[in-house]
Amino acid sequence: MAIRKIAQIGHPVLRQVAREVTREELASPKMQAFIDDLVETMHDADGAGLAAIQVYEPIRICAIEVRNNPRYPYKPPIPLTILVNPKLTPVTDEMFENNEGCLSVPNLRGVVKRYVSVRVQAWDRHGNPIDEVVHGLKAGTYQHETDHLDGKIFVDRADPSTFATWTEFERHQKAAFVEKVTQLVARVGS
Ligand code: NI
Repeated sequence: MAIRKIAQIGHPVLRQVAREVTREELASPKMQAFIDDLVETMHDADGAGLAAIQVYEPIRICAIEVRNNPRYPYKPPIPLTILVNPKLTPVTDEMFENNEGCLSVPNLRGVVKRYVSVRVQAWDRHGNPIDEVVHGLKAGTYQHETDHLDGKIFVDRADPSTFATWTEFERHQKAAFVEKVTQLVARVGS
């Protein structure tokens, strides 16, 4: 396993539309080793998620996990999940204001409107089907990660007047945001 370099905003790879992965590719030792690297890199960087495109592999795979995350201490836990060729479909028009950061965007956070509930259809790393509806902050994380597969970064969707460094977010925005999303999670689930 190896920790990969994470592409930073401005690198053209982050603007590519990633291609789908075939079943044969997914089953290959090379692809399985790549997924191990993706997870290890996400853990090393304390990410809540990491898309393959962020480590210079423009393929439709992302890793998601939240477990005692120091970058996002308010996020409810998400078990380690690998999404291959994910498709997201909103199941309601309702949206919420999520405050997001990204390992490819150093020291910046911003408010992005995300669907409250989305259906995700994908394969897991072994090609088994995933079909579930996710809500709240978890739905926000899924939308952020799958956006990467289409060359989109949270800053594209954010209101620029909400941009903050991580320190200023802590000082001026975090308390109100955590209160709002705690109410959301209590209502719709994580
Ligand atoms: Ni990101």
